[in-house]
Amino acid sequence: MKFFVDTAEIDAIAELNDLGMVDGVTTNPSLILKSGRDIMEVTKEICSIVSGPVSAEVVAMEADAMIAEGRKLAEIADNIAIKLPLTWDGLKACKTLSGEGRMVNVTLCFSANQALLAAKAGATFISPFIGRLDDINVDGMDLIQDIRTVYDNYGFETNILAASIRSVAHVQDCALIGADVMTAPPEVIKKLATHPLTNAGLEQFMKDWAKTGQNIL
Ligand code: E4P
Repeated sequence: MKFFVDTAEIDAIAELNDLGMVDGVTTNPSLILKSGRDIMEVTKEICSIVSGPVSAEVVAMEADAMIAEGRKLAEIADNIAIKLPLTWDGLKACKTLSGEGRMVNVTLCFSANQALLAAKAGATFISPFIGRLDDINVDGMDLIQDIRTVYDNYGFETNILAASIRSVAHVQDCALIGADVMTAPPEVIKKLATHPLTNAGLEQFMKDWAKTGQNIL
């Protein structure tokens, strides 16, 4: 499973990228707001650090304007994935932009039917939002499983990019189901390394080592 990092914070992206943990980046208008930076400038900087797909989201609501914004965002770098909302206009824009050979990430997906439409419109990535379904008491992981089944039934090549990931359990469940990619905030990715038994085991080893009175260096 590929790891995308869901942020526009340069330091966090660079730290994870240096460890080989970043296969791509996703941003959205809320994350651009949080960064306090200009979208073109910050996205260009992200693309200079990360070689994998970097999603940049359009903000227009109508297809023609989405297409124009998407083309402008794609000028930033070769690894831009144009992020479009899963609306009828977004699907029209997806069909056009993917037909031009551009990477497209269709976002705000909340049903397997929506994911089916995005695949038929040529999306490179479909972004089902797990956490936001959990927020309304619907199991977001069921959606990942449903999309996996539908895509496998018909051999669609659109990548399932599990999004709105809030916990380490989400990451593990996505990997078990077979999501192609997951995008998570840097904090969640770092938390994947932690386990209480690792901490407890290390503490005991350090106590016993101190009693030996030895040094390795
Ligand atoms: C994905 O592309 C989105 O940017 C993101 O995962 C949304 O996550 P949230 O629901 O935690 O805001």
